[in-house]
Amino acid sequence: MSAVPSTQTALLLSAPGTPFTVSTRAVPVPGAGQVLIKVHAAALNPIDAMMQKAGHLFTEWPAVAGNDGAGEVVALGEGVHEVQVGDRVLFQCWFTVDRGTFQQYAIADAARAIKFPKTITYDEAATIPLCFFTAALGYYGTYDVAVDTMQFRGIGLDIPVGEGAGKYKDEPILIPGGASSVGQFAIQLAKLSGFNPIITTCSKSNESYCLSAGATHVIDYKTVPYTSLASHITSNITSKPFKVIYDAVSTEDSQAASWSILSDTEGLGSKAGTGGKLVITLPPAKSIASELDEKQFAKNGSKSASWAYGNGNGQPTQADANKLARALEGWLIEGKIKPNKVELLPGGLSAVDSNVGRFHSGGTSGAKLVVRPFETIAPA
Ligand SMILES: NC(=O)c1ccc[n+]([C@@H]2O[C@H](COP(=O)([O-])OP(=O)(O)OC[C@H]3O[C@@H](n4cnc5c(N)ncnc54)[C@H](OP(=O)(O)O)[C@@H]3O)[C@@H](O)[C@H]2O)c1
Repeated sequence: MSAVPSTQTALLLSAPGTPFTVSTRAVPVPGAGQVLIKVHAAALNPIDAMMQKAGHLFTEWPAVAGNDGAGEVVALGEGVHEVQVGDRVLFQCWFTVDRGTFQQYAIADAARAIKFPKTITYDEAATIPLCFFTAALGYYGTYDVAVDTMQFRGIGLDIPVGEGAGKYKDEPILIPGGASSVGQFAIQLAKLSGFNPIITTCSKSNESYCLSAGATHVIDYKTVPYTSLASHITSNITSKPFKVIYDAVSTEDSQAASWSILSDTEGLGSKAGTGGKLVITLPPAKSIASELDEKQFAKNGSKSASWAYGNGNGQPTQADANKLARALEGWLIEGKIKPNKVELLPGGLSAVDSNVGRFHSGGTSGAKLVVRPFETIAPA
């Protein structure tokens, strides 16, 4: 068991649009229902780049970013029974300074501190939280909530445990962006839910990555443009209706193609109406937004677009996330959910500032950027 120091190295953001700076801050103390985690690995996400630029979501300044963490439980708050000191857990941030993962010690809610087996490294485990929950809360979430002008919703499929496993047997699904982190989890979960065929898009170089996640058909979107995707699928793969589409990358062109392919009338899941259901990870693209009402239902017809909320620590998603957290622990032990490929950045937290900009300029390809906070090079 590690002794807990009173201070730690953390990556601070003093204001929106400023650089991340390696600094020192107090080690936080877990409250009731919380745990303190020694963060052995933290992953970078596109949202960290957005949060650095615009500062949105943070409630305190200076802020600590970092959405994904994996580490060892080193202290328990009052009433914690889900985990013990010494457990290896992966966890998501919340947007307070004590809960960002770009620091050596962070707080997490015990209910969503997810144990993982030794077959998975800390680096690998850190690739899972945000993008697993974005995929899972999109498919299986039962929340339907407006935040400012944004409407977030899960489509209410049955979680693939017990009788829910394989429930959507032989229903086709399209998952644009299979090589993205969200796409990898969306494919693996679609397989657990029984969808078949599982059709995805990526660059040719990531075809085997998507096949190993469970895709049955991989289309190179640089060879088959999104404007030809519908005819390509009908001619070469299936002419069955698509009742669910999970657009993991949600670009303008992938959303437009997905919306056109989605069944007008037939859908699956308890939420988002009766027609076909498109899950998106970004706001509705311009081309489809003009066809949607304020709740993101088609103005003419019954299909819908549902923007997935990827953080399980928010009040609207906590109940769904608690169930998914326990399911994920089982899937990780059974090897049914596997982490993303890791690109480990040398220099610990010091590497975040120079690498987060990659998300503004083409991003990453088929790998998740990971840092180890305890390898941080202190400023001279
Ligand atoms: N709603 C939420 O809560 C939430 C949570 C997490 C992420 N997101 C959003 O979801 C999106 C995916 O996030 P992520 O972390 O999974 O991204 P990521 O791993 O950084 O995505 C990189 C991958 O995107 C693929 N890609 C890019 N453009 C594509 C296109 N037009 N068609 C198919 N694939 C394409 C690339 O595949 P190739 O290299 O094979 O070309 C690349 O491997 C981002 O926009 C992110 O902001 C939203």
